Formats: sequence, C-alpha cells, structure tokens
Amino acid sequence: MWRLLAATVGFLTQQASAHGGAANYTVGDIWYPGYDPYAGSWQDTDPTIPQRKWITNEPIFETTNHSLACNFPGTPARASIPFPAGSNISAMYNTWVHTVGPMIAWMTHCTNDDCATFDPVASNADWFKIGEKGLLEGDILTGSWFQKEFSRWDGSPSVWTERVPESLRPGAYLIRHEIVSLHSEHRPQFYPECLQVRVTGQGNAFPGKEYMAKIPGVWSMDQPEINMNPYDPETGSKTEYKIPGPPVWTG
Ligand SMILES: *[C@@H]1O[C@H](CO)[C@@H](O)[C@H](O)[C@H]1NC(C)=O
Ligand SMILES: *[C@@H]1O[C@H](CO)[C@@H](O)[C@H](O)[C@H]1NC(C)=O
Ligand SMILES: *[C@@H]1O[C@H](CO)[C@@H](O)[C@H](O)[C@H]1NC(C)=O
Repeated sequence: MWRLLAATVGFLTQQASAHGGAANYTVGDIWYPGYDPYAGSWQDTDPTIPQRKWITNEPIFETTNHSLACNFPGTPARASIPFPAGSNISAMYNTWVHTVGPMIAWMTHCTNDDCATFDPVASNADWFKIGEKGLLEGDILTGSWFQKEFSRWDGSPSVWTERVPESLRPGAYLIRHEIVSLHSEHRPQFYPECLQVRVTGQGNAFPGKEYMAKIPGVWSMDQPEINMNPYDPETGSKTEYKIPGPPVWTG
C-alpha cells in the first residue's frame, strides 16, 4: 500500500515540477532551437537561438506581471528566424501535463524593425493574434481542449501549428506562443515564450486597432474566462468557452 502511495506521490511531484514551455520550433522542414531554461547562460550569446531567454518551467500567475510579455527575463535572443509570410510556425513542447484552457499565438512588430533592442513592455507594444486553440468538444472540465489533445506521451514532441498571414507586411516581429492553464481554482497559469522572426514576402497588410491588445493588459482577473474554477459544476459543465481578447487577424 505504501508503495502505491509513494508511486502516486512521486508522479504528482513530477507533474507539479513538469510544467514546461515551447522547447523548439519548426518552419517547414527547418528546426530551430528554443532557449532551454535549465541548460545555462552560455545560451545568452548563442548565435543560433532565436527564442528569448526564460529560466524556469514555472508559470506566471499575475495578469499584470511584465514577464507576461516574453516570460522571465525575456531578454532578446541573438538570432531571428527567416520567415516567409504565409508559412506555418510550429511550436514544440515536451509532454504537456495540463489539460484545461486556451492557447494563443500572438505577434508584435519590433520597434525600429529591430528585435535585438526591442522591449515590448517599455515600448507599450500592440500585439495581435494570429491563431488560437480552445475547447474542441465536450465540457470545460472533462472535454477535449486542444491543450489536452496535442500532448504526446510517447516521447515525441507535442506540436502546435499556426499560420502567419501571407499578406503581413515584411519586417522584424516577435511571435509569442501562450498557453493559459485553468485547472487551478481561480488561479490562472500563463506560459508565454517569444520567438524572434524576420518576415519576408510581398504583403502590405497590417492589423488595425480592433485586433490589438497590450500584454500585460489583455488578461484580467475580472474576466470569468480567465479567473475560473472549472470544478464548480455550473462552470465546468458548460460546453462553450469563448477565448477572451481581440479577434484573430487572418490577413
Ligand atoms: C513575475 O513573474 C516572475 C516569473 O514567474 C516572477 O519571478 C516575479 O516575481 C513576478 N513579478 C511580480 C511583480 O509578480
Ligand atoms: C525539439 O524538441 C523535441 C522535444 O523535446 C526534441 O525531441 C527534439 O530533439 C528537439 N529538436 C531540436 C532540433 O532541438
Ligand atoms: C498550416 O497550418 C494549418 C493549421 O493552422 C493547416 O491547416 C495547414 O495544413 C498547414 N499547412 C501546412 C503546409 O503544413
């Protein structure tokens, strides 16, 4: 009996410490490495890493936290991915353990077209959504969220793909992948990571004000979709979940 208990506790402990984040990326057949939060600061000057620095798998808990933009510390990467507008960006995660809540991919244009010097919070940047994934089927507590369905448990990466609109004006951008996990009563967890890209193409479009949001700013504890208790029967049995924030810009 104690063995079973020990195994259960071990599993729970592992789960608790195994939150995670976007580990690396693909565009077409090309792989790009993420910043590994546990591999050390030699990565800070690595010219091949296009993901901004983050140093723990733990979530961010506060909707007003500046680290909500690009995680902590979120300092610029040395690389930027060459990115043809109209391509898909895939973010890879290692076994994702949480199951409830939306996932949203955002972009913002880097001031002066330079991501190496860009601080989205100090610049009061406008972010727009390029894609989002929510509740696919069933109810909030037990249903199929993309967050639940995309996780692979066989050692292969969990893949989340979104398309960057072909009409997007070329330039230097951040792509921000955000998982919002809502399995803790009234204690949302935010898992953001930022990737630097250089968008190329013939496009000339840029989303208008109605598509824009500030980060932090877009989430608030006044939003029932964010400040939620999925174990409350009335909430948990709902079969619709509207992802808050502006609409997705499709180009
Ligand atoms: C913001 O989040 C970071 C990373 O989790 C944490 O270290 C920091 O204490 C938080 N700041 C505030 C003001 O809550
Ligand atoms: C990307 O991450 C996955 C999942 O951890 C891993 O299997 C793969 O080796 C990584 N690939 C590269 C090129 O970093
Ligand atoms: C790009 O991603 C979308 C989903 O976001 C998918 O429907 C489409 O098949 C993907 N295209 C390619 C070439 O992978």
